[in-house]
Amino acid sequence: MGVDNARELAVREALKYLIDFEVIGVGTGSTIDRLINFMASSKDLLRGKYFVASSTATALKLRDTGFKVFDISSTDCVDVYVDSADRVDRNLNLIKGGGAALTMEKILAYYSRFNLFIVDYGKLVDSFGGEDFIPVDVLPQSLSLLTNQLRRLGYKFSVRHCGKGKYGPVVSDVGGIIVDINLRVGEDLLEFDRRIKCLPGVIETGLFVGLSDLVLVGYADRVDLLRGRRFLRMY
Ligand code: 5RP
Repeated sequence: MGVDNARELAVREALKYLIDFEVIGVGTGSTIDRLINFMASSKDLLRGKYFVASSTATALKLRDTGFKVFDISSTDCVDVYVDSADRVDRNLNLIKGGGAALTMEKILAYYSRFNLFIVDYGKLVDSFGGEDFIPVDVLPQSLSLLTNQLRRLGYKFSVRHCGKGKYGPVVSDVGGIIVDINLRVGEDLLEFDRRIKCLPGVIETGLFVGLSDLVLVGYADRVDLLRGRRFLRMY
């Protein structure tokens, strides 16, 4: 009940920041589903807005709820991007990819003018550490060679498998395989990201460093605002 309420409060707060923008990029996951439900009950405030989805699931949900969805390949500008995350640290870095849509999510977040993330208090930590795994989207053909190299570099990892609905590894929204790679204790986030991204076969990582302009952290009775660089410039 606590987490549920916390998410709901944060989702409701988020809508206030979306109505200032015209083209809205939308993330993926249960928090975002909840946001779309809330947007559907506040349609008057969103008249004339266009949406760009980070996944098939979100595109379908937006469309079924009656919103206009643009294809990302014909979109040259995103005014605001809204999403959730699996973990957030106090420097507003994020771990994303629990829903295997991290590549499109990072593309939208990188190219958007303003990024807003919605989380509940259970996802906020002081810093990421040795217990964290970073989802990485990998070209299927490179999987064996790449995981061998990860072993050589001393990384612990696992190839993510579906619970039910499909036998075998999870396939990402861009057709990759998701490999969850352990962040080593004390490892610098940017260094990790650079090291992993330069391995041929890696499509994208779920580590979002320096991409949050505002994180709304929901608690049972309030929403805290963690403000990033562009928030201070825009508001
Ligand atoms: C999808 C994501 C999601 O934002 C993340 O997994 C959080 O999901 P939820 O809102 O269901 O907790 O990164 O790739």
